[in-house]
Amino acid sequence: MSRQPQPFAARTLLLGVCGSIAAYKAVYLVRLLTEAGARVQVVMTGAATRFVAPLSFESVSGQPVVTDLYALPANRHIELAETAHAAVVAPATADLLARHASGQADDALSTLLLALRGPLLVAPAMDGGMWEHPATQANVEVLRKRGVTFVGPEHGPLASGLTGPGRMAEPERIVEALLSLLAAPRSAARPQGAVADLSGERVVVTAGATREHLDPVRFLSNPSTGRMGFALAAEAARRGARVTLIAAPSELPTPPGVSRVDVVSAADMRDAVHARLPDATVLLMAAAVADFRPARRHPHKVKKGKAEQSLALERTEDILKGLDAIAPEGLIRVGFAAETRDVLAHARGKLQDKGLHLIVANDVSEPGSGFATDTNRVVLLSRDGAEESLPLLAKSEVAAAVLERVARLRRSG
Ligand code: CTP
Repeated sequence: MSRQPQPFAARTLLLGVCGSIAAYKAVYLVRLLTEAGARVQVVMTGAATRFVAPLSFESVSGQPVVTDLYALPANRHIELAETAHAAVVAPATADLLARHASGQADDALSTLLLALRGPLLVAPAMDGGMWEHPATQANVEVLRKRGVTFVGPEHGPLASGLTGPGRMAEPERIVEALLSLLAAPRSAARPQGAVADLSGERVVVTAGATREHLDPVRFLSNPSTGRMGFALAAEAARRGARVTLIAAPSELPTPPGVSRVDVVSAADMRDAVHARLPDATVLLMAAAVADFRPARRHPHKVKKGKAEQSLALERTEDILKGLDAIAPEGLIRVGFAAETRDVLAHARGKLQDKGLHLIVANDVSEPGSGFATDTNRVVLLSRDGAEESLPLLAKSEVAAAVLERVARLRRSG
């Protein structure tokens, strides 16, 4: 029998469950987390126990469920909150968001959340009108600023019979978001993990250098390692997006919570982008796509004695430029411009020519910038004419800056 991967091995997680019809899905969430190696301590609000019996959670978690602070030995609640690697509240009701935003500690769950040291992930579930109410949105804003990460809610049919935002994210998505949260470096600027300002977005990222084979053992390519694209995929997932990374050959590991599609040539990459684009809301085209391929690909290794003296080339398709017919409405398109001179002029041209919202321009001849480095100095150029020069930054920081602009573009409609 093969053993399942245990990404949560030796992790203790607190799972808060509130009173919502989605509470039954939390039982399955506990199952997924325990199968992935976590020790899960479930904490239920009084209302939650009216939807699902604590015994269901005890059976899947193998731990007694906390429903009443006073039933615990003295100070055990502080110990639980301080030793948890992370907490997740799923489902989180409007009431719980309001209580935690105002710092209340009037039941076991709100008290534990206030004493929590690790990051907090929240999966809201409620009626669409309650979610959109300015009071709830203000509480969400407060919690986000405090570093709480949100996953969902998703758009779909609700218990009320209406369709709208308010469905709890599926347990598999919550598990992915938790993995990203635990993998994310925590900093003073983001005390409880990342801001999930891309939650609900479906992001397609391309990365790396395509290979254009002339025979099975030789190809044309470029020095891109894919680091910028992988950093974007990791950051988009951390911010709550559902991310597909279309990667040209790369040694880099797949970031947590990201689904990866491996491709080789520009034509493969185009096909993979076309297959996923109808469902995407953001496209980040960070790949260094080959512009030329050998006009003829030999099925067998060409023997050096028989090689032609010159190589006939043909153009590959420009993936970004050819998207108009299939791009869904509202798709945010971000391109990259790797240049060695006249950086801004060329980037402005590409921004317009390829119908982009944003282009990330850099001078790849500058030391510490461009291919195969961990840093990049870029200028962000927007469709509205804004041009912003960033200092030399780690690629993860450039990714955060780019996705911050994407979230802003979405907010401004
Ligand atoms: N790109 C693309 N398809 C191609 C080539 C490039 O989609 N066949 C995308 C890249 O992923 C990048 C943007 O277009 O986001 C700009 O790529 P770049 O290589 O800088 O420019 P090119 O359009 O190839 O133009 P040139 O080679 O003349 O600089």
